[in-house]
Amino acid sequence: MIELQGITKIYKMGSQTLEALRGVSLKIGKGEFISIMGPSGSGKSTLMNIVGCLDTPTGGRYFLDGKNVAGLTFDQLAAVRNRKIGFVFQNFNLLPYSTAWENIELPMLFDGKNHRKRKERVTELLQAVGLYDWREHRPSELSGGQQQRIALARSLANDPPILLADEPTGNLDSKSGQEIMDILMRLWKEGRTIVMVTHNDEIAAKSQRVIRLFDGQVVPERTA
Ligand SMILES: Nc1ncnc2c1ncn2[C@@H]1O[C@H](COP(=O)(O)OP(=O)(O)OP(=O)(O)O)[C@@H](O)[C@H]1O
Ligand SMILES: [Mg+2]
Repeated sequence: MIELQGITKIYKMGSQTLEALRGVSLKIGKGEFISIMGPSGSGKSTLMNIVGCLDTPTGGRYFLDGKNVAGLTFDQLAAVRNRKIGFVFQNFNLLPYSTAWENIELPMLFDGKNHRKRKERVTELLQAVGLYDWREHRPSELSGGQQQRIALARSLANDPPILLADEPTGNLDSKSGQEIMDILMRLWKEGRTIVMVTHNDEIAAKSQRVIRLFDGQVVPERTA
């Protein structure tokens, strides 16, 4: 479902260039639950942004469901992303002046869903993350764990088959982190493909497979 071939990413800053990804090749099958680990600066977020169609690679090919998306324009990528991929960030990235309800509803507005459909889905998602009673609250009135549950609900608005999470528990206490992990595990058991970046071995151990990055390259996986 996800196949990267020789993906590179070079950031240019003035006369400086930085090779954040140096030929990353990997395959992720439908329904897998993968952790990505590696030191700070090894390229984890850069990789996630490319897999999540939030950014384009400098070189290489990226097949998503058999279609090479590496050469698409930003508009084309946005369309792919809206249907296929949910994204959760370490710092939640909720709109600060919008309520929990409005944050979850937004991707459905972009997708042109009608009012009745949106209302049904937002209600269902708020209940799934246990925050229906908090629907009128703004992010600043919610705890970190609650904000991340709203962000997770938002990422699921259009029911994407793939969920990407970049250090989803990185800013949370262990109890809130556990709640997020419980939801991710449930979403995986429902059939979603999950790719998660984490620095935490205990959390990574819950996934089926760990991909390690070092200096912009994948460290070969041990088969034993
Ligand atoms: N927009 C950007 N412009 C220039 N350089 C960048 C940009 N984003 C990332 N980099 C650089 O690319 C390298 C990889 O960064 P990346 O954010 O992917 O690392 P990471 O593995 O996610 O690290 P962390 O664990 O700290 O989140 C770093 O050297 C970083 O400074
Ligand atoms: Mg990162």
